[in-house]
Amino acid sequence: MSIQPMDFSGKRVLVTGASSGIGRACAVLLAELGAKVILNGRNIQTLQHTAESLVGGGHVCAPFDMTDTDKLCDWIKTLTAEHGYLDGFVHCAGVQVTKPIRLFDQAFFDDTMHVNLASAMAITQGFRLKRDRTKQGAIVFVASIAGLIGQTGNTVYGASKAGLMSLTRGLSMELLRDNIRVNCVAPALVATDMAERTKASMTEAQFQHMVNQHPMGLGQPEDVANAVAFLLSDAAKWINAVTLPVEGGYLAN
Ligand SMILES: NC(=O)c1ccc[n+]([C@@H]2O[C@H](COP(=O)([O-])OP(=O)(O)OC[C@H]3O[C@@H](n4cnc5c(N)ncnc54)[C@H](OP(=O)(O)O)[C@@H]3O)[C@@H](O)[C@H]2O)c1
Repeated sequence: MSIQPMDFSGKRVLVTGASSGIGRACAVLLAELGAKVILNGRNIQTLQHTAESLVGGGHVCAPFDMTDTDKLCDWIKTLTAEHGYLDGFVHCAGVQVTKPIRLFDQAFFDDTMHVNLASAMAITQGFRLKRDRTKQGAIVFVASIAGLIGQTGNTVYGASKAGLMSLTRGLSMELLRDNIRVNCVAPALVATDMAERTKASMTEAQFQHMVNQHPMGLGQPEDVANAVAFLLSDAAKWINAVTLPVEGGYLAN
């Protein structure tokens, strides 16, 4: 193990959702810490924009749609065949659509669950199969405090994020013998495009009420990236199955 446990030199890490917000901040930080980063999202232009902002070499863009869950395991196998084994991944890709129950429909449910939850399982399936088993692997899922509390109109999203927390506990036990740790972060409101879309879906007063529930103000993508990098790193080599709230005191409020 490196003397500096947050040194990612020689490590290759997949970041999903790397074209924007929290995923982009994770990619930037992990590259600064020495990792080679595989950047996933759907939009190749914004992925390339992230890639151009990374220090170091060996980073690659790997667009793929997370709704295509059945093909994700094979996609991971192809990625590792082309670029080498992964040491870990952070799953930031996610969708949030505010919909009260009267607007519920199957397609909305399926889309949210595929992108936010089923994809996490399928990526893990591929990661477990194709890796250097002599090294400890690390997974971090990006959930949300919406999985811990109730929010009007955000029930399906909350269920998908609570599912990620459950996956964290289940997979951490199932993958013990594979030498893979599985952890999770649960951010409160972070200033990204997703938060801007949430703002656009409500009145000014409703959004301000949400902001007021954050005693330390809104989070920045880098605040979440710091926690993710720690959990992915050797500094957390004895930390497993946890969901770490990253929420500026939201839950204590
Ligand atoms: N911002 C917040 O307040 C907040 C709070 C708690 C948790 N989170 C969670 O944090 C994660 C990142 O959110 P963010 O705020 O950074 O959102 P964002 O800026 O909207 O970024 C979302 C990312 O997910 C990717 N993505 C969405 N659908 C995808 C699909 N079908 N296939 C592949 N990639 C897909 C997007 O890539 P493309 O556009 O290139 O497809 C983009 O890179 C999400 O899981 C979100 O639920 C966010």
